[in-house]
This record gives sequence, structure tokens and C-alpha cells, in this order.
Amino acid sequence: MRTLDQIAVEGGTRLQGEVRVHGAKNAALPILAASLLADGVCVIEDVPDLQDIRVMVDILKALGAAVEYNPPVVKVDARRVSQTEVPERLMRQMRSSIFLMGPLLARHGRARVSRPGGCTIGSRPIDLHLKGLMALGASVEERHGFIDCRADRLRGGAVYLDTPSVGATENLMMAAVLAEGTTVIGNAAREPEIADLADFLNRIGGHVEGAGEDTVVIHGVKGLAGGRHRIIPDRIVAGTLAIAAAMAGGDVVLRHVRPRHLGAVLTKLREAGVEIEVGRDIMRVRSDGRLRAVEQVRTAPYPGFPTDLQAPFMALLCVAEGMSIVTETVFEERFKHVGELRRMGANIRVDLRTAFIQGVPGLTGAVVQASDLRAGAALVLAGLVAKGTTIVEHAYHIDRGYERFDEVLSSLGARVRRLRQP
Ligand code: EPZ
Repeated sequence: MRTLDQIAVEGGTRLQGEVRVHGAKNAALPILAASLLADGVCVIEDVPDLQDIRVMVDILKALGAAVEYNPPVVKVDARRVSQTEVPERLMRQMRSSIFLMGPLLARHGRARVSRPGGCTIGSRPIDLHLKGLMALGASVEERHGFIDCRADRLRGGAVYLDTPSVGATENLMMAAVLAEGTTVIGNAAREPEIADLADFLNRIGGHVEGAGEDTVVIHGVKGLAGGRHRIIPDRIVAGTLAIAAAMAGGDVVLRHVRPRHLGAVLTKLREAGVEIEVGRDIMRVRSDGRLRAVEQVRTAPYPGFPTDLQAPFMALLCVAEGMSIVTETVFEERFKHVGELRRMGANIRVDLRTAFIQGVPGLTGAVVQASDLRAGAALVLAGLVAKGTTIVEHAYHIDRGYERFDEVLSSLGARVRRLRQP
């Protein structure tokens, strides 16, 4: 980890221009894991060039897969995979590698991972993953911080998720696709990335129905072939850039987006006074930078307001006229950015999972710290409208979810620079 890794932002410029949004990190990660299931070469296109993707590629290689990664294309040949244990140092770098258990169990009858640590947004339990895998016939043992799963042959079954967990839904879909019989996942997550995973599995010979709705049905098949798949656009990156344009003011066109994946966010941006025109795969965001407060923003599982855009949207509300109320219902500790925004002059009061934001006429630049990828992005956005210079430290967090975030904003006219120790 670099000691000096900062993004410096000079506030006060409007944003103007056009950006192509990269492929979705949270679709690419499970689909790369699912390529372990295929008896052939999988070519995944429009994979974003991000730190988390590089960790996933390293994990696939460590398991014995042949992987060629030339951004934005990843080629995976998992036919010679021999390992079923995910190296601990890689598990530690990315907790979402927990959804390698499903494919490893389905294909090799065994999976050994170290229990993923929590992170700055909450404890991130995996009980729903483990309960679901056991419902499909897996045995699960936990010892010394490692989870050992075994199953000679997974059997289809009925699984009900107490919480519509994205990762658990994906893990169980991948475990069920080669199981004997049919699996029904009740209260499944409905995020677009789930449907993209199902599209990939069906394209390589799987039989998954209902992905994107709250009940997903997976009919087990004997085997899966290789195939080619293009990742859907990243709705969280698109939403972050739309919020940036709304705050800074200007006229920005986002290409390679799916506006229908951002329904709740566009509604709230329009409530704040932002003009948004949408096409099938394009969005135009216009704003004079003078925004209205939004009465109530509650994060929720899709199609609700995405928790991953709660921090960026809170940055916007800091300079919107009036009182806004933001409630974070998905993760228990996702307000780490509040203290940093306060350093910039924001007026925010937090009561448990609800933040009360009183808009202020302007923010002032400060040295602030990114605690996770979305909080980091939110602080850069706040810097766009702050008076003077904002330095966002620990900028490496942002690289986990945003391709060249500083360069993208600079291309739209923002005065943003990346400062790294040589
Ligand atoms: C996915 O994480 C995303 N990550 C997260 O994006 C996103 O914030 C989250 O879904 C919610 O949309 C990837 O897709 C790689 P969950 P995931 O399981 O799957 C509880 C980003 O910024 N839960 O849907 O880990 C959990 O504690 C990242 O790109 C259990 O209780 O999220 C949380 O409160 C951050 N038991 C809620 O469910 C379980 O076994 C939602 O978590 C699993 C989850």
C-alpha cells in the first residue's frame, strides 16, 4: 500500500463533456468466479480494469485456471483447476471472494476459504451463504478461521434468504447450476448483476429462470461449456458521475449506461432539481449547481435506492438547500464519510442509521480520508464544489471500484490530480 496516495481536487469548475461508463465490477466478479464451472474457455468482455478484478484473476490462477487478462477482456480456461483452497492472502484482499465457494463445490466437491474479515461498512456476515450451501447438501466445518465445505454431489433444494443478500444469491445460483435436481431460491436479491450472472450461466449451458425477481429457479445440468459474455454497464459508476455533474453544475453525457438500472437514483436527482434525459443506453445530466434538499432517501435492496450511492448522494445533499434525511438500511456502519464531510464544513447530524443533512451555502477544501471505495468517491465529489483544495488520502480505495476516477473527472473539466509517492 503506497504511503502517499492522494487525489487533489480544486473546487469550482463545472463539468462538461461525454464519458463512456465501464463494465460493472459487481457483475464481473461473480461471472469470473462462475467461469470455474465451465468445461471450456470463457471469454468475458467489458471487464473493468480495477484492483478487485486483478485480485479475482490472481485467485483463479492460484486455483490452477489458465487466465489471460488484457483489459477489458478476460479469458479463462478452468479445465485444469486442481486446487480447491482460496489462498488466504487473496481472500483477505477481497471479502467478496466468498462466492468462489459455490463454483468450487459444484465442480470439485470441495471448497476451503478463510472466513472473510468484516470491512469498514459492517460485519458482513456469511451465514446465509453457509445455510444455503448446507440446504443443497454441503457439509460445512469451521476451524481456525477457515471454512471447509464438502459435497460429493450437490442436490437441488429450497432455500429462503432471510435477507435478499446479493452475494448469497449469486453463490447459491453457482452451486445449484450443476446440482442434481432443481433449486428454488426464495427472497432472492433482484440486482441487475444477478440477472447478468444468470445470462452468463444460461449462455454456457445452464438453466436458470427468474433471475432479477425475488424467486430464482435453477434446474441442475450435467455440465457447462465455454462461451463469450459482455458485462453490463456499471450502474454505481454511472450514478456517481451523474451526481458529480449535478453537484458541480454543467452538462454531461454518459454513454454505455442502463438508465432503467438507476430508477430510484434518477428520481431523487430530479427531486433535487437536476435535469436528466435518458435514452436506451445513454443519459444526459444538466444542472446549474443550485440544488434542492430531498426529503427522504432510504437505501434498500434493488430496485430501492442503492446503498453504494448513499455516500455520493449525501455529498450532494450537503450543498442542497434545505434539510434532507438519509436512512441507511442495508449496512450497519456506512456513515464513515460523515465525519470527513464535516471537516469540509458540512452540517450533518447522525442518529443511529439516519443522517440529517442541513444544506450549507458552500464547503471548504480540507485533508480527508477515504474509508471505502464509495466514501472515497463521495469525498472527491465534495471537493468538486468546495472552496480551495481538497486532498483525499488513501485514494487506493477508490481504485477498487472506479477506473481512473481522477482522469475521468479531469476529462470533464474538473481540476483533479492523482498524487503518488514515486
Ligand atoms: C454486494 O455485497 C456488493 N458487492 C456490495 O457492493 C453492495 O453494497 C451489496 O451487495 C448490497 O447491494 C459485490 O457485489 C461484490 P449483501 P454483498 O450480501 O453481497 C447481510 C461496493 O461498494 N448479510 O447483499 O456482500 C449483510 O450484512 C460493494 O461495490 C447477512 O446478514 O452484500 C448486509 O447487511 C460494497 N448474511 C445485507 O445482508 C449473509 O450471509 C446485504 O449484504 C450475507 C449478507
